[in-house]
Amino acid sequence: MKHLISTSLLNADFGNLERDVLMVNKTAADWIHLDIMDGVFVPNISFGFPIVEHIKKVAGKPLDVHLMIVDPDRYLSRFHESGADILTVQYEACIHLHRTVTEIKTLGMKAGVAINPHTPVSLIKNTLPYIDMVLIMTVNPGFGGQTFIMESYNKIQELRKMIDKGGYNVLIQVDGGVDTTNAARLVESGVNVLVAGNSIFSSKDPVETIVKLKNLIH
Ligand code: DX5
Ligand code: ZN
Repeated sequence: MKHLISTSLLNADFGNLERDVLMVNKTAADWIHLDIMDGVFVPNISFGFPIVEHIKKVAGKPLDVHLMIVDPDRYLSRFHESGADILTVQYEACIHLHRTVTEIKTLGMKAGVAINPHTPVSLIKNTLPYIDMVLIMTVNPGFGGQTFIMESYNKIQELRKMIDKGGYNVLIQVDGGVDTTNAARLVESGVNVLVAGNSIFSSKDPVETIVKLKNLIH
């Protein structure tokens, strides 16, 4: 399977959000990645339901919603109603993770679990039969434009082996500091979905950058 590109809107122009979503619609990107931050789980606040709903109305790609919030169980159905197609919760924010991912699937969404840079991949092993995706955070969550953490390659390879050995139908997604210089190595290491925000929206030609990420051109 060719890798997918999920364009993070965190660094989009929020004064012209619809314009940026329409731009992404026309590109080779596969998904639109939305970062929901509550100012508690991460030291930043992003946006909530009205923005997700507005993006859903104009988006021509599935919405890949990444919750960086405490106690996400409270809002799973609200995010489904707002238009999330894939819903990812942080491992560190879930006390009853199996219950949470089961509820996401019951609501009809794909379920993802994100792990922070300090969280070992071994902790997700027993959850793999129940989910569609593991998101390996390759920066500390909270902000776009941070530097990729190099230890992430070891985590990706370890998770790749675990998924292949168990025969699980689970995608590996990476998020944070992804650009045209590391995309090829990430895919070689076993990544299926590249999230990219800053490298796309701070580039001179975002459409061309998405083409490069899709075709692994440096
Ligand atoms: C960070 C978010 C990321 C962020 C990635 O907490 O989860 O999705 O947008 O941004 P870049 O690609 O700028 O590192
Ligand atoms: Zn994210």
